[in-house]
Amino acid sequence: MKLHDQICIVTGAGGAGGIGEAIARRFVAEGARVVVCDIVEDKAQAVAADLGELAIPWRCDVTRSAEVEALVEAAVRRFGRLDVMVNNVGFTTPGLLGELDDQAWSDVLNGNLSSTFYGLRAALRPMRAQKSGSIINVGSAAGLGGAPGLGAYGAAKAGVINLTQTAAVENFKGGVRVNCILPNAATEPLLAWFEATEAGKRTRSEIEAYARCGAPEEIAAAAMFLASRDSSYVNGAVLPVDGGLCARVGCISAEIE
Ligand SMILES: NC(=O)c1ccc[n+]([C@@H]2O[C@H](COP(=O)([O-])OP(=O)(O)OC[C@H]3O[C@@H](n4cnc5c(N)ncnc54)[C@H](O)[C@@H]3O)[C@@H](O)[C@H]2O)c1
Repeated sequence: MKLHDQICIVTGAGGAGGIGEAIARRFVAEGARVVVCDIVEDKAQAVAADLGELAIPWRCDVTRSAEVEALVEAAVRRFGRLDVMVNNVGFTTPGLLGELDDQAWSDVLNGNLSSTFYGLRAALRPMRAQKSGSIINVGSAAGLGGAPGLGAYGAAKAGVINLTQTAAVENFKGGVRVNCILPNAATEPLLAWFEATEAGKRTRSEIEAYARCGAPEEIAAAAMFLASRDSSYVNGAVLPVDGGLCARVGCISAEIE
């Protein structure tokens, strides 16, 4: 078991059928103790109960820095250290930039970028003190380029990529690695949106023209690699886990007959 006795926190891990839940599940399967964090207490409790005694539920709103500090402090108080921090929470409110209101902008920036910063900063303290640790941020392909209607989300996820790279170069001497995953996964909420709306159907067919939508477990496998010693020489990486979606250059194409 590659994470035997490792102490891990996964934020947004209460979303059944989501990426955070799959990561928590995989980490427990590899022997880790996992703090299952979610803003919805019942969701955190349900996932932790299902995972068994290696999982501990914790209610935390990651957009509030004091709550994130308390989350990390509680894990360190209970277990004496923190080995892996997965900053997974993220969401979007779609809207064209010319029409986006202040509230939508700040909600999306807080939910994706500030939350990642709070988790990163809180985790760095114990990890730097113990001179080891792996921080895994969950970004998005939307952070690599423009996507209509996803301006706030894309700007926030671009920030997550830069936070990852800056934290990696600032902390390599302290034994802490910081990496970022860019997922493409058919999570349950996303599948529901794909099926329920015209925009969802269109998005799905556009994605699937270039790549299969992955299973949350396939994203969790990459998180597992970044959490474990197998990735001891991987730092500051921005890793698409997307079946090749990001490898394609937009609308450029020359079909060969
Ligand atoms: N699904 C994809 O294909 C995809 C693609 C690109 C990026 N991502 C990124 O992957 C991550 C996970 O996405 P998902 O689709 O699995 O999410 P999800 O919606 O399935 O689950 C997210 C969980 O986070 C919790 N949450 C929301 N706000 C919170 C807060 N303030 N504090 C604590 N918990 C909170 C929710 O209750 C939910 O349980 C996100 O960062 C998302 O942007 C996903």
